[in-house]
Amino acid sequence: MSNPSLLILPGDGIGPEVMTEVVKIIDWFGAKRGIAFDVSTDLVGGAAYDKHGTPLHDDTMARAQEVDAVLLGAVGGPRYDDLDFSVKPERGLLRLRKEMDLFANLRPAQCFDALADFSSLKKDIVAGLDIMIVRELTSGVYFGEPRGIFKEGNERVGINTQRYTESEIDRIARAAFELARKRGNKVCSMEKANVMESGILWREVVQKVHDEDYADVELSHMYADNGAMQLVRAPKQFDVIVTDNLFGDVLSDCAAMLTGSLGMLPSASLGAPMANGRPKAMYEPVHGSAPDITGQGKANPIACILSFAMALRYSFDLGDEATRVEKAVEKVLADGLRTADLLGHEGETPISTTEMGDAIVAALDASL
Ligand code: NAD
Ligand code: IPM
Ligand code: MN
Repeated sequence: MSNPSLLILPGDGIGPEVMTEVVKIIDWFGAKRGIAFDVSTDLVGGAAYDKHGTPLHDDTMARAQEVDAVLLGAVGGPRYDDLDFSVKPERGLLRLRKEMDLFANLRPAQCFDALADFSSLKKDIVAGLDIMIVRELTSGVYFGEPRGIFKEGNERVGINTQRYTESEIDRIARAAFELARKRGNKVCSMEKANVMESGILWREVVQKVHDEDYADVELSHMYADNGAMQLVRAPKQFDVIVTDNLFGDVLSDCAAMLTGSLGMLPSASLGAPMANGRPKAMYEPVHGSAPDITGQGKANPIACILSFAMALRYSFDLGDEATRVEKAVEKVLADGLRTADLLGHEGETPISTTEMGDAIVAALDASL
C-alpha cells in the first residue's frame, strides 16, 4: 500500500517559518516510527499570486482534492493589501475551504499547565481549560449572496449576506454533538437569534437535531455576544461550542488568549468522508501570517505542529501518535522553553522558531 499523502501549503509571512518545523516532525515520524507520508509542497496566497497571478492555481486546487490531507501555514500580508479583492491571498484559502467543502472547523483551546499563569486572565480561570470551538466554515456571511460594493444614489453601499440553509446547520450541529459525546458531552450553541433570522433558524435546527438524535448530550443556547463575555469570565463552563463562520472566527481568536498565545491554537477543517472513509481535511493554525514578526525567528511553531497532531488523529487514525506530539509540546513548555510570544516574566529569554522545533523533536526522541 502506498503511503498516505500530504499536501503542504506554507503560504506567506511566518507560514513557511512554522511549516519548516512541522516538516521536521513529519520527517521524525518517518525515521523513528516507520510512519512515512508522501509529501508534496505547493504555493498558496500571496506566494501563489506572485508566481501565477492567482492566490490558488487550479492544479493546486485539484491536488488538494486528491490528497489524504492538506497542511496550510498562513496567507496574507501588507504587500497584498491593495490587490483586487478577487485575487487577495485570503481568497485562496477560502476557495480551498469551499471547494473541498470543509464545513466543520475544529478549534480546540487547551491551556497547558506550564502556561496557566501566562494567560492574560487569572490562573484559576484558565488552568486545566479544554474546550472545542466548532466553527461552520463554508457558509454564512463569508459566502452569502448578494455581496459586493454597489452604487446607491450618490454614495456606495457595501453588502454581505448572512445565509444558512437548514442542511448546513444540521450537519455542523451533528459534527458538534458527535465530538461532544467523545468529550464532556456538552454543547453550547451560539448565535444572535434575538436580532437575526438566520440565528432563529440556527437555534431551531440545532435543537431539533439534538432532540431527535442526540438527546443524551447536554445542549444550551447562548447569544454570541454573551458567549464572548462568558469565554473570558468563566471559560471552563464550556465543553463544545458550535457557532457560525464569523462568530467562530472571532470567538476562536478570543479563546486563543485563554491558552497564552494565538501561536498555540491549532485547527482541523473537515468535510464529508472520502471513499476511504476518512474525512476530506485541511489542517491550519488559527493564526495568520503575522507580518509584524515575519523573518525574525520569533514565530511560535506550536499551533502548526499541533495542527499536524490533529491530522494524525482525524485523518490517519493515529490518536496515540497525536498524543505523543501533544505530550512533547507539553514537555518543552514544562521545561520552560518559550518563544517570544510566551514570555511574561522577568529573566526569561526567548528561544527561536527553529530552536522550539528542535526541542519538540528532542522531546519526541525522549518519548521512545
Ligand atoms: P495574525 O494572526 O497574523 O497576527 C495577530 C498577532 O498575533 C500579531 O501580533 C502576531 O505577531 C501574533 N502572532 C500570530 N501568530 C503567531 C505565532 N505563531 N507566533 C507568535 N506570534 C504570533 O493576524 P493579523 O495581523 O490580523 O493578520 C495578518 C495577515 O494574516 C492578514 O493578511 C490576515 O488576513 C492574515 N490571516 C491569515 C490567516 C490564515 O491564513 N489562516 C488567519 C488570520 C489572519
Ligand atoms: C482564519 C482567518 C481567515 C478567516 C481569513 C484569513 C480568510 O482569519 O482562518 O481564522 O477569516 O476565516
Ligand atoms: Mn481568524
